[in-house]
Amino acid sequence: MFYFGADYYPEQWPEERWPEDARLMAEAGFNVARLAEFAWSKLEPADTLKPGDNQFDFTWLDRALDVLHARGIYAILGTPTASPPPWLMLKNPDLFRVRDDGRQVTFGNRREYCPNHPLYHQRSRQIVTAMAEHYASHPALIGWQIDNEFGDRCYCPVCQSKFQEWLKERYGSLNELNARWGTNFWSHVYTQWSEIPVPVTTGGSPNPGLALDFARFISDSYVAYQQIQVDILRTKCPGHIITHNFMSFGYEGLNYYDLARTLDLVSWDNYPIGFWLPDQPDACGPALGHDTVRGLKQKNFWVMEQQAGPSGWETISPSPRPGQLRLWAYQAIAHGADAVVFFRWRTARHGTEQYWHGILDHDARPGRRYAEIKRMGAEIKRMGVLIEGTEVRAKVAILHSYDSRFGFQIQPNSPDFRYYTHFKAIYRALFQHQIPVDVIAPTADLSPYKLVFAPAMYVLTAEIVENLERFIRAGGTLVVTPRTGVKDDANAVVNMPLPGLLADLCGVTVDDYDAMPVNAAQEIEFIIPELSAVWPPQARTWCDILTPQSAEVVALYTRDYYAGRPAITRNFYGQGQAIYVGTFGDTPLYLTLLGWLLLDLGIQGTFSTPEGVEVAERWHGDQRILFVLNHTAHPQVVTLPRQYTNLLDEQLISGYVTVAPHDVLIMKEAE
Ligand code: GAL
Repeated sequence: MFYFGADYYPEQWPEERWPEDARLMAEAGFNVARLAEFAWSKLEPADTLKPGDNQFDFTWLDRALDVLHARGIYAILGTPTASPPPWLMLKNPDLFRVRDDGRQVTFGNRREYCPNHPLYHQRSRQIVTAMAEHYASHPALIGWQIDNEFGDRCYCPVCQSKFQEWLKERYGSLNELNARWGTNFWSHVYTQWSEIPVPVTTGGSPNPGLALDFARFISDSYVAYQQIQVDILRTKCPGHIITHNFMSFGYEGLNYYDLARTLDLVSWDNYPIGFWLPDQPDACGPALGHDTVRGLKQKNFWVMEQQAGPSGWETISPSPRPGQLRLWAYQAIAHGADAVVFFRWRTARHGTEQYWHGILDHDARPGRRYAEIKRMGAEIKRMGVLIEGTEVRAKVAILHSYDSRFGFQIQPNSPDFRYYTHFKAIYRALFQHQIPVDVIAPTADLSPYKLVFAPAMYVLTAEIVENLERFIRAGGTLVVTPRTGVKDDANAVVNMPLPGLLADLCGVTVDDYDAMPVNAAQEIEFIIPELSAVWPPQARTWCDILTPQSAEVVALYTRDYYAGRPAITRNFYGQGQAIYVGTFGDTPLYLTLLGWLLLDLGIQGTFSTPEGVEVAERWHGDQRILFVLNHTAHPQVVTLPRQYTNLLDEQLISGYVTVAPHDVLIMKEAE
C-alpha cells in the first residue's frame, strides 16, 4: 500500500476543527497522518509520578485518532522524546545538553536533552512504554517514529564518563589508547581513564584520535538511546512499523548506517527549498538525499516530512511554484519512496515555526497548495498500485563513509574542502548523465556494480580495502579521489606512501601534494585520446602529484612546479581497474571522466533530455516505470526513444513530447 498524507498536530487546534481537517484530508486522498512527536507535555502533563497515579493523558489523542480513522486515515505516532516538557527539565537541570563550547543549553527550544543521561532514559522508557501499551491494538495505528531528527552532540559530565567507558571497551588498556592516539605529542599520556577529556572547542584543537572517537561515541549514544525505544515498541507492538525521520545528506553528525540498522525502514525529511538557500531549488540535492537514505538499508524508504509550502522561522523562503510540490513528491517516488507525508497539514499560528508553511495556510482555507496535493492524491490512488513492489536499480555506486566525514570535520585539510560538496560534485555528474546511483556504505556488497566511486576515503580500514580489492579483481572499475587512505581508524596518519592501503590497487604513489589557495584553479590536460575534453576541466582545492608504479597516465597538471606531472592515472588490476583522480576538481571534471568511463563500461543512462529534465526509473522484473521530471520553469520538449503508455492518462506517447513547467510524465514501455 502506498501511504500519502500529512504531519498533523491536533493538539495545536480546537477539537471542533478536527472533523473538518479529516474530511479535507480524505478528499485529498490521504491515508496516513503522523502525530504526537512533540506532544510530551500534552500526554504527560505534570510530574505526578506516585504509585497508583495515572499521570498520562491519552484521551485527546484517542479522539483525534478516531476522527482520522473514521475517514480511513491511519496513523504513525511519534514518540515525543525530542521535546521534553519544562517540568521534567527544570526540575532536573543536569538533563540539559552541554554544547561544544562547554555551555549548557537552556529551556525553550527542543532537543535540549543529554542522550546518555540515565534519568532521561528512565523517563523516556516510561512514556514510550505507556504509549506502546495504550496503542498496541488501536485499529488506526500502523507504526512509530522514534523521537525526531536525532542529532546534537553533548559534552556534559555524564557523557564524559560514558565516553571513558566506551574507550575502555574499544581499546582495552590505556597503553593501547595512548599508543593509538599518539599521546606523547604535547604530553597527553593518560594514566587514568578518568583523565580523558571531551573535545570542547574552548580547549583548542583536540587530539584527532580523541575527536574522531568522540564523534563515534556520540553517534553510538544516539543509536543506543534509540534502541531503548525500539526494544519497547518491538515487544509491545510487534505488528507495527518502527522508523525514525533522518535528515538530508548535508547532515553529518551521526553515523546513519548504524542508526538505520534495527529500524524496519528509514524515513527522511525533504525540504528542497529552504529559507537558508539563496537560490532556486536544485533538483540534484533532493535526489542525492533520496539515494542516500535508500542506501542506508538498501531498500525503499518513506519521506516523513515532504515540503508543503514556503519554509521559514524568522524569514520566509520563496514560495514553491505551482507544480513543484507535486513534482518533488514524484521525484521522491521515482527514487524509491513508498510513502510521502507532507509537513505539515496546517501552518501553525503559534510557536517557532509560525512561518513554516503547511498545506493549508494559517486561516485553514484550502488554497492552491491543497488543490495541487489533492490532484496528486487522486493520481496516487492508481499510481500507488502500479509502483508497489518496484525498486530502483543501479550499476553505479558511490561509497559514503561517516568515519571520513567525521575525520574531515576535525581537519578539513583544505579551508576549501567540504566532503559534502566533493561528494555532490561527483553525484551531480552522474545525475546529469541520467545514471541511477546507489549511495552505500564502504563495506556493502559491491558485486551488483560495474562502477564505484570512493570519494575521499580519508579514514581507511583493511576491511574496506579487501572489499574494494574483491570488487576490482572481479572486473569492477573503482574511482578514487584525493586524501584517500591518509588515516588509520584511530585517526593517525599512516606510515606508508599515500594512498596508503590502496597504493597497490591504484598502482600509484602520491609523492608530493599541494593544498591550493582558495579559488585557485589550473587546467588538467587529458593525454589519452578518448578523453579530449571540450572545455578542459579544472583542478581545484587539492593536487596530489602522482608517481605511477604500475598505472598508466590519464591526465597531467599544466601549471606550477608540477606542470607535466601526472594528475590522473589508471591501473589495471585483476579483471578490473582503479582510476586515481589526484585533484578534487568540479563537476566538469567528473562529467568528462564519466563520458569516457560510461562508454568504456557500456553503462547507459535512461535517455537524454534537455537540461533540468530528470529521468528516473523503478523496476519490477523486466518491467520499468519511468518518471520524466521537468524541474525547470519552462515547457521542455523531450524526445522519447520509443513508444510508451502515459500512466496518468493511459494514452500512448512517442516522439516529441512537451512537458509543462514543473510537470511530470510517468510512463511504461508500451506492449
Ligand atoms: C524538520 C523537523 C520538523 C520541523 C521542520 C521544519 O527538520 O523534523 O519538526 O521542525 O523541520 O522546521
